[in-house]
Amino acid sequence: MLHQALSFLRKIAAPMLRKKSSAFVRHAAQKDAQQFATLHAQGDFSHAWSLAEFEGFLADRSVVADVLCDPSRPDRIYGFILSRRASDEAEILTIVLSRAVRGRGWSRVLLGQHLAHLASKGVSTLFLEVEDGNQPAKALYEAQGFTVIGKRPGYYRRPDGSQALALVMRLSLAEL
Ligand SMILES: CC(C)(COP(=O)(O)OP(=O)(O)OC[C@H]1O[C@@H](n2cnc3c(N)ncnc32)[C@H](O)[C@@H]1OP(=O)(O)O)[C@@H](O)C(=O)NCCC(=O)NCCS
Repeated sequence: MLHQALSFLRKIAAPMLRKKSSAFVRHAAQKDAQQFATLHAQGDFSHAWSLAEFEGFLADRSVVADVLCDPSRPDRIYGFILSRRASDEAEILTIVLSRAVRGRGWSRVLLGQHLAHLASKGVSTLFLEVEDGNQPAKALYEAQGFTVIGKRPGYYRRPDGSQALALVMRLSLAEL
């Protein structure tokens, strides 16, 4: 009986659980713009970017974009990341995960693949701005090796009108 239970776990249940909790990363496509706008509205940003803004980003050749999606349905997007490239430098414009999948460590998978994508395009230095109080985002960036190189007091305006400090962070892809 115990043997049968273990065998079931190994052959059936474990692969099912793995499948349920897995995601993969692909390059973004123009048709992803609507889901980007929907997810960005969940990001608690003071200004949610519109569909037209995302269509503009995805049509822009200097923008590098990746999505985290369901492995069996790549059109079903769990999150995305956008960066703008200029020569061998780039800036992360935004990263957002659906509320439903936060806290699983998937943002690390998305960011890691995005860094590889940027490196393949010749990017060697990456910058970003993050609100000082955004603990999940700060933990994500610090774990990836980003370091604080500057502070911008009052840079962000929260939905309630209050101002917040922005940290400017930098990562050298050559050192990874
Ligand atoms: C930022 C974001 C992409 C991170 O994704 P996530 O699924 O929440 O975070 P993960 O589960 O991948 O964990 C990332 C790190 O944050 C930490 N973390 C997660 N939630 C946390 C919390 N509430 N407080 C402190 N740390 C937290 C995790 O422990 C992990 O750190 P570790 O690698 O040192 O263990 C996601 O929270 C999000 O979409 N937020 C809204 C949009 C946003 O703020 N984007 C960033 C703009 S700069």
